[in-house]
Amino acid sequence: MKVTGVLGSPRSSGVSSTVARRFLEYAAKSGATTGTYNLAGMHYSGCRACERCKIDLKSCALKDDLTPLLRDIHDTDLLLLASPVYYGEVSGQFKTFFDRTFSYFESDFSCRIPAGKKAVIILAQANPDSSMFDDIFPRYKHWLEIYGFSRIELIRMCGVESIETDGTLEKECLAAEKLAEEMLES
Ligand SMILES: Cc1cc2nc3c(=O)[nH]c(=O)nc-3n(C[C@H](O)[C@H](O)[C@H](O)COP(=O)(O)O)c2cc1C
Repeated sequence: MKVTGVLGSPRSSGVSSTVARRFLEYAAKSGATTGTYNLAGMHYSGCRACERCKIDLKSCALKDDLTPLLRDIHDTDLLLLASPVYYGEVSGQFKTFFDRTFSYFESDFSCRIPAGKKAVIILAQANPDSSMFDDIFPRYKHWLEIYGFSRIELIRMCGVESIETDGTLEKECLAAEKLAEEMLES
């Protein structure tokens, strides 16, 4: 099984990345082939709406650090997406990456990537009220379903600010490992 992690926090050892790494480490120990993309360390542009991916190409016309990631997702079985909540949304780094997945659509909006993948979305927010920003997951789940993903799970952390203030997040990391175990099996 191939597992690809996308870390959307500018903090490489932040809350969402720490929990995501534990998921990925568990998957690797269980025999999965894992890859991790730390968006904060990558150079890439937003979608330019050039439509080349619909007109004369089968992939995004932009060539930058997202190119191998967008290609990797094609043959990934499990995609792990992690982001902090910024102003009630995912981080700018994450949103810019996600817009580039527009290149997965054919001109008739059928999808180019193989169906049946699984995904886990990890979201971290400082606000302890879980009713706040609970619209983020359903929105990204919706797009992943359009891309043919068959199972999409959420790991959500509310009331967490940083590893410095909230400790090692061992409970959340163990929950991530448990979910990894279950998703690698099924
Ligand atoms: C620019 C910015 C915007 C933020 N906006 C929100 C927000 O709208 N709601 C919230 O609960 N927390 C917000 N936070 C706090 C982060 O979501 C929180 O600290 C999170 O745990 C950080 O995760 P990370 O360590 O994975 O980056 C914001 C933080 C920053 C730096």
